Amino acid sequence: MRYTTAGESHGPALITVVSDVPHGLELDKTAIDLELARRQRGYGRGGRMAIESDAVTVLSGVRFGRTIGSPVTLLIENRDAANWSAIMDPWGSDEGVEPVTAPRPGHADLPGCQRTGARDVRDILERASARETAARVAAGAIAKALLAEFGVVVRSWVEAIGPASTGPRVPDAVAPDVVEASDVRCPDAAVSQDMRSAIDAARDVGESLGGVFVVVAEGLVPGLGGYAQAHERLDARLAAAVVSIPAVKGVEFGDGFACATRPGSEVHDEIVLDATGVLRRATNRAGGLEGGMTNGEPVLVRAAMKPIPTLMRPLSTIDLATGEVADAARERSDVCAVPAAAVVAEAEVALVLADAYQDLFGGGCVEDMRTAYESYTARIAW
Ligand SMILES: Cc1cc2nc3c(=O)[nH]c(=O)nc-3n(C[C@H](O)[C@H](O)[C@H](O)COP(=O)(O)O)c2cc1C
Repeated sequence: MRYTTAGESHGPALITVVSDVPHGLELDKTAIDLELARRQRGYGRGGRMAIESDAVTVLSGVRFGRTIGSPVTLLIENRDAANWSAIMDPWGSDEGVEPVTAPRPGHADLPGCQRTGARDVRDILERASARETAARVAAGAIAKALLAEFGVVVRSWVEAIGPASTGPRVPDAVAPDVVEASDVRCPDAAVSQDMRSAIDAARDVGESLGGVFVVVAEGLVPGLGGYAQAHERLDARLAAAVVSIPAVKGVEFGDGFACATRPGSEVHDEIVLDATGVLRRATNRAGGLEGGMTNGEPVLVRAAMKPIPTLMRPLSTIDLATGEVADAARERSDVCAVPAAAVVAEAEVALVLADAYQDLFGGGCVEDMRTAYESYTARIAW
């Protein structure tokens, strides 16, 4: 399962084409829209999210609530486009349209202009904007539906925003309903309040904040991914997918960086046979991944998001039109988007895992995948 997206932040719509979706997968429009709504939420978002009310329109690949084996095309309208029609007009003229010439440090603005030769930063920022991640979340909803057929659930929570942190928590100690009820996606009420206060304080002085989020995938079979070739390794594929999210700058699995300072006996997870005859691990420091494959324990991905680059108290830049020192451009912007990024990361993780299920169990038809899955799980039972 793969996806491609198209669409500008203030264009009429975003589109995602998800290819290699197996035939016979039941989809639910409400479930896709719910994922989009989850991405829109979050304390610290800017005014844009109040304008949008994301909902999906299916353009191809689905009949009567089931996939038909062709590419699934999903469209999400940008309501805000109505306010940008002159600036984003595909056929009109740029006369009277003020170009953006003060690239923002930390955004795609300057390297994008250098790469393409664009003289108006808007040509770059319209696509580099994380509005595009709505299309990824729609694609991820299809992946989640496929994973659900095999009892896999992907969820997330926010561990830190700026200085406010819960510290690392194991998935069993994080109640999904508490996370969903929190506008910062944090499992701890007191820390949620600290996070909101940190966001308010940042907003008051024209600052922005980043943070840390965790994605967990539970119910996975062991052996997804591969050890034989670099491109098969599931840890590499997951890392690439999560780092592809704008502003995500670091990823670790399980105890990750902390393992570097411990002796091996305090890092590796002992193999045990549980009461039901399943080979398990006594601990999950590896975050469910060994040798580029799942090991049957929950996959735990922790990621660091940098602060939002658009600052209302802007950093210094060089105006590309004049060569003079200038204040970086300001667009309506989020102060903090860590809760939304966590939802985008769920989608990215789900897409990689769904692809890995298809690698292992076949990709053409859900029924055949189920047969292969049952034979596989019966074979690896002790
Ligand atoms: C959900 C989400 C929302 C974001 N919102 C904004 C925003 O409102 N303003 C902004 O400048 N950057 C925002 N970003 C971050 C930028 O898109 C990102 O920093 C930029 O594309 C440059 O990419 P890089 O940070 O990976 O280098 C957001 C990122 C995500 C994941």
